Amino acid sequence: MTQPTSDDCPRANGMPMLGLGTWQNEDPDQCAESVRTALETGYRHIDTADLYGNEAAVGEGIRQAEIDREDVFLATKLWHTDLSYEDAIASAEERLDALGVDSLELLYIHWPTGSYDPTETFRAFEELHDRGMIEHVGISNFERDGMETAVEHCDVPILANQVECHPFLPQEDVRATAAELDIEVVAYSPLARGAVFDSEVLTDIADAHDASAAQVSLAWLREKGVTAIPKATGREHIEDNWNALALDLSDAEIARIDAIEDVEREVDPDFGPWN
Ligand SMILES: NC(=O)c1ccc[n+]([C@@H]2O[C@H](COP(=O)([O-])OP(=O)(O)OC[C@H]3O[C@@H](n4cnc5c(N)ncnc54)[C@H](OP(=O)(O)O)[C@@H]3O)[C@@H](O)[C@H]2O)c1
Repeated sequence: MTQPTSDDCPRANGMPMLGLGTWQNEDPDQCAESVRTALETGYRHIDTADLYGNEAAVGEGIRQAEIDREDVFLATKLWHTDLSYEDAIASAEERLDALGVDSLELLYIHWPTGSYDPTETFRAFEELHDRGMIEHVGISNFERDGMETAVEHCDVPILANQVECHPFLPQEDVRATAAELDIEVVAYSPLARGAVFDSEVLTDIADAHDASAAQVSLAWLREKGVTAIPKATGREHIEDNWNALALDLSDAEIARIDAIEDVEREVDPDFGPWN
C-alpha cells in the first residue's frame, strides 16, 4: 500500500479530518518527536491543550518538521478556570507564547464548566478572533443545549465541537445537532483509548482488510463525516493511524459497526454536562 499524502486527507470546512492527539504525551523530547514524525508522515492537524502541559514541545515539534507554519492546522484549548473575559484573553496569549506561534487555527473551550459564561467567554473569543489571534472558535464536551446556547452567544461561526466519539459512543444526538447548527464534530479518544482492540466486530473487519482495529474505527468515523485526532506516540502507531485514510469500509461493515450495542465512555469527569 502506498502511504497517503497530506493531500489525501479530506478536510471539513478547511480542517484536516485526521489529526494527532497529544494528551499524556508528556515527555518534552518524546512529544516533539511524535509531532515531527506525524507532520513528516503527512498529518497537518495537531491537537493539544493548556491542560496537557506540552504546548512548548508541540511547538518545538512543528518547528523541527520544517513544514510551513501556514500548512499546519494547530488547535489548543483553554482550561475551565480561565473562561472569564479577562482570563480567557490572558490564557490565549499564554497559549501562543507557549506554542511559539503568532496565531492559532482553532481555540477550544475545553469544558463548559468552571468560569464558563456564554456571554463573557464568547465576548473574549470574538475579540481574539477580531485581533487575528485565532482563526476559528471551538467548543469541546458540549451537548445539545450547550451547542444551541453557544451558537446564540457567539457572533463568530463555531467551527467544531470536540467530543468523545467511537463505535462504543457514537454520539448520534451530538452529531445531529452539530449538523443542524453547521458545526463540525471532532472525535477525541477515537480508539476508545485502546478498547477498539478488544471488540470482536472491529477486529473481525480489520482482519478481512489486513488492517488494524484502530484503522477500522478511524475509517468508520470518516464515513460519518467526523474528524478524528487519535493520540499516538511512536512512528508505528502514527503511521498505522494515518494509513486508515486508505481503508474504505463496505456498507455492510459500517452497518455491523453501527449495530454495536456496548456503550463505553472513557472520559467521564463529574463536571461533564451529561452527569
Ligand atoms: N477535549 C477533551 O476533553 C479531550 C479528552 C480526551 C482526549 N482529547 C484529545 O483526543 C486525543 C485522542 O484521545 P485519547 O488520547 O484519549 O485516546 P485514543 O486516541 O483513543 O487512544 C490513544 C491510545 O491508543 C494507543 N494507540 C494509538 N494508535 C494505535 C495503534 N495504531 N495501534 C495500537 N495502539 C494505538 C496509544 O498508544 P501510544 O501513545 O503508545 O501510541 C494510546 O495508548 C487526545 O490525545 C487529546 O488530544 C481531548
